[in-house]
Amino acid sequence: MKNDPVYIFRKTWATYQKVISNNLMFHREILTAVRTLLESQKGPLNVLDLGCGDATHIGKILNPGQVAEYCGCDLSPYALDVARHNLEPFGARVNLLCRDMVAVLGEAPENHFDLIYSGYALHHLSIEKKQTFFTECRRTLRKNGQVIIVDVMREEGEARPAYLDSYNKAVATQWEALTPDEQDQVQEHIRNCDFPETPTLFRMLASKAGLTSSRRLEKQTWHEAWSFTA
Ligand SMILES: C[S@@+](CC[C@H](N)C(=O)[O-])C[C@H]1O[C@@H](n2cnc3c(N)ncnc32)[C@H](O)[C@@H]1O
Repeated sequence: MKNDPVYIFRKTWATYQKVISNNLMFHREILTAVRTLLESQKGPLNVLDLGCGDATHIGKILNPGQVAEYCGCDLSPYALDVARHNLEPFGARVNLLCRDMVAVLGEAPENHFDLIYSGYALHHLSIEKKQTFFTECRRTLRKNGQVIIVDVMREEGEARPAYLDSYNKAVATQWEALTPDEQDQVQEHIRNCDFPETPTLFRMLASKAGLTSSRRLEKQTWHEAWSFTA
């Protein structure tokens, strides 16, 4: 039972839903900032959502009328099953792929997307793959298209071990909404999967890829939202 992938998905996803509903990763403030930016965008937009998970958030930052085409990808087939249901208001414009985000970007057509969004997924990638991510985003974006990244970021000058200690201490002392078992689960995920960069490093990677203007949309402790324009 414990090794059953569906059981593991349900357990980790239920904890993540609890994190979101208690606003422990500041989804509320961050999604408000992203939505405010996108409200002014004339649609309909071709959208690529990398590491889309269950796609709850894209439905909160874009309304179906703004979207010409939505392509979401994620490594979890179980999350994509939930996404399929959540994206019903977007109708037949939805394409969901159970694939690695960098592979999907590498095969995406040139000069095609208006918005590439990635929420709390990029920290899984190595620094080399993050550079490839930005380079491929630049290639597949239309002129004036945007990359919007929501993710955990290290403070300037904070090395990864210090980040892991501080974040996990915050989980232990401030995430009282979670049970001790759920806190352990989150801390283990952070130790194994969090490879966050500093904002300066992100800007350097984006600039090297030819994404000219970068803008911080929101910052709440280590949780940030940035936009980069082609
Ligand atoms: C914390 S969830 C975030 C989901 C959603 N974007 C959100 O903001 O709520 C991170 C997601 O990234 C996915 N993921 C991690 N690495 C990935 C990769 N290399 N390619 C595609 N998806 C990936 C995971 O399967 C997971 O669903």
